[in-house]
Amino acid sequence: MKVVTYQGMNFEPYITQQEIAQRVAQMARQIMDDCPSQNPIFVCVLNGAFMFAADLFRACPMQHAEITFIRFKSYEGTSSTGQVSEVMGLNEDITDRDVIIIEDIVDTGVTAHQLRQKLAELNPRSVKMATLLFKPASLKVGNPPEYVGFEIPSKFIIGYGLDLDGQARNLSDIYVLKQ
Ligand code: IMP
Ligand code: MG
Repeated sequence: MKVVTYQGMNFEPYITQQEIAQRVAQMARQIMDDCPSQNPIFVCVLNGAFMFAADLFRACPMQHAEITFIRFKSYEGTSSTGQVSEVMGLNEDITDRDVIIIEDIVDTGVTAHQLRQKLAELNPRSVKMATLLFKPASLKVGNPPEYVGFEIPSKFIIGYGLDLDGQARNLSDIYVLKQ
């Protein structure tokens, strides 16, 4: 693997697709072990989480599991705007369901916190969050996610669904901005 360049910035290899796959399988087992019902609803937060969600959902072969999609946007360039806008909402009835939110990355926690508040108003049985990446030092609001793939330092990451202004999502491995 080599350094990749976007918008004049260099990114170096950070987490390989093999490491991601191993961790996703472990997370799936943990989620299934903890889940009180066989019909949880996974809520994938678009756009960034689409690739992780596809892998995680496939790794959770629970008989009546469902997946749906919601869309939020908070990032511009390489930093959070602090403002979260909902671009696409939830159509499903989640009353009395076990909900597992799937996020690509939790940074300031603003998106996660708002999403949990919104979902809690819809009277689910439980709400948990699975994120592939978590930057604990950046967390400003809310609690840490229940399921974390990798805890990472507060650096900018791309690949495996994560983008820089819409690009780099199609990299199979995860890359970090070279300082
Ligand atoms: P938060 O609301 O600050 O926790 O940010 C959450 C969202 O910002 C994530 O779901 C990502 O879409 C985006 N984000 C945060 N950190 C990164 C990063 O390092 N690379 C790409 N996107 C990021
Ligand atoms: Mg996201």
